[in-house]
Amino acid sequence: MKKLLDCIAAELAPCFEACGYDRSYARVTLSNRPDLCEYQCNGAMAAAKAYKKKPIDIAGEVVSKLSGNPMFSEMNAVMPGFINIRLDSAWLAEYLNGMAAEEKLGVEEIGAGETIIVDYGGANVAKPLHVGHLRSAIIGESIKRIGRFLGYHMVGDVHLGDWGLQMGLIIEELRDRKPELPYFDGKVKEEGEYPKEAPFTISELEDIYPAASKKSKEDEVFKNRAQEATFKLQSGYAPFRAIWKHIMDVSLADLKKNYGNLGVTFDLWKGESDAEPYIPGLIQDLQDKGLAYESQGALVVDISEESDSKELPPCIIRKSDGAALYATSDLGTIIEREKEFSPSKYIYITDKRQELHFIQVFRVAKKAGYVKTDTDMVHLMFGTMNGKDGKPFKTREGGIMRLEDLIQEINEAVYARIMENRTVSQEEARKTAGVIGLAALKYGDLSNQASKDYIFDLERFISFEGNTGPYILYTIVRIKSILSKYQEMTGKSPEDGKEEVILPAASEAEKGLMLQLTKYNEVIEASFGETAPHKICQFIYELSDVFNKFYNSVMILKEEDASRQGSYIRLISLTKRVLETCIDLLGFEAPERM
Ligand code: ARG
Repeated sequence: MKKLLDCIAAELAPCFEACGYDRSYARVTLSNRPDLCEYQCNGAMAAAKAYKKKPIDIAGEVVSKLSGNPMFSEMNAVMPGFINIRLDSAWLAEYLNGMAAEEKLGVEEIGAGETIIVDYGGANVAKPLHVGHLRSAIIGESIKRIGRFLGYHMVGDVHLGDWGLQMGLIIEELRDRKPELPYFDGKVKEEGEYPKEAPFTISELEDIYPAASKKSKEDEVFKNRAQEATFKLQSGYAPFRAIWKHIMDVSLADLKKNYGNLGVTFDLWKGESDAEPYIPGLIQDLQDKGLAYESQGALVVDISEESDSKELPPCIIRKSDGAALYATSDLGTIIEREKEFSPSKYIYITDKRQELHFIQVFRVAKKAGYVKTDTDMVHLMFGTMNGKDGKPFKTREGGIMRLEDLIQEINEAVYARIMENRTVSQEEARKTAGVIGLAALKYGDLSNQASKDYIFDLERFISFEGNTGPYILYTIVRIKSILSKYQEMTGKSPEDGKEEVILPAASEAEKGLMLQLTKYNEVIEASFGETAPHKICQFIYELSDVFNKFYNSVMILKEEDASRQGSYIRLISLTKRVLETCIDLLGFEAPERM
């Protein structure tokens, strides 16, 4: 469906033209002064300069051409030259009936199947998923869902950190703990000849990594062993590849479970190790193209550009000891992704501390021609999730909070809140707490502009009032309850509600709700175009507010005029569908009751 602002502009454009002005002046925005009008066009002010006339005269001429247009209830030229606009209520009701009749409620599939890679999650294998990876997972999942809804072919890749020093650390710690294992007897067998059973469980593994990491900080010899083991693994030493496979199998099962609990899924479970086969060719190619050169023993590619405001360091693609780096692995991954998907856009979602890394990777990829010149490379950088003390979020003991524990803590708090009222069984309360807890967590994150740091404030996040996930859910649940009562009373199913039509608004509160709903398609497109899910949060927060104002101003279930009541029902059911779609795009859902 055409966006509402475009509908209005489309009426104004021929009027500008008929008065001898260019149609491009017909741009329309939401009003800055909602007390005076709903929309405004400032085109006359801009046209005044070009045509050397008084803006108010131009505005007046254009407005007079529009008189009698059924789309508007008001269209005024006001000093110094604004055009103030109000929509006709009957026209508005028709626009909403049009939305309600469409499966996607007026959102168009602008993506047309174009492929976009979203690289998010980025957990490091064998290290427990912690809150640092939480933001990437939450934001990325939402971006992927929004893109998919808009008709893009979104390919979500978790891009695991599965090839780094942590692997060497685990191998050497395992050797110290279980030297009798066949991986350490010095003999090299075929990969298939090693045991099928992993020599550790996930909880052992979770203990092995931190122990090894601690040891390596205190023990230089151990650290060197770990580095050596990492190097051997990366050069294909079979016993270590076999251990690596065990680590991967055990960790992946656990990661999938954890991401699953967050409602986060991936199309690809690839990792840094998958880039490995491309790296020798990549390095050779960068040298052949004259892009890579030796500098202090390392191989580097210059990436600075004249327009840079500060000097950017070259991208190191191979260290002096011959090891490939994070950047090399990301370049290798791009080569693989081009080969398999040839996407028109990449979206990477990481902490903003990786800013330079991605500038370097993107520039090398473009310079070397690994991606097309017009491929859109986006790095969506997010800020830190802080505790109430303004410092990066920690447990009460000062350690890194594990994701599972964080979710547990939220769910407990929500559960306690639900049980205060004690209207539902314990079992239902538990289930509902899980649903609300996830919404609280995700909305608490997504409602902030991604690049900003934010404070994880449990009490605020789980509150049923204010700009929170639970408030949105509460609004949805309230609508569901009215709809089911309506169904009980009338025997009509409000969900298909096809008999009902939305009538012109009978009050300001109702019109306010209607006007807010019309922003839907615009907001969804903008949130994707600007990779900004917070725009959806802002929209549904405002929508919930205007809905609740409307709800408090009318007696929907006591309305005696059946067609008026049917119209209310159709309107609130549309509100519910919009809210439910939006929260699905944000990555959570509403319970039946709360
Ligand atoms: N594993 C990385 C980390 O924990 C994040 C990976 C992000 N994706 C990428 N293609 N570099 O920092």
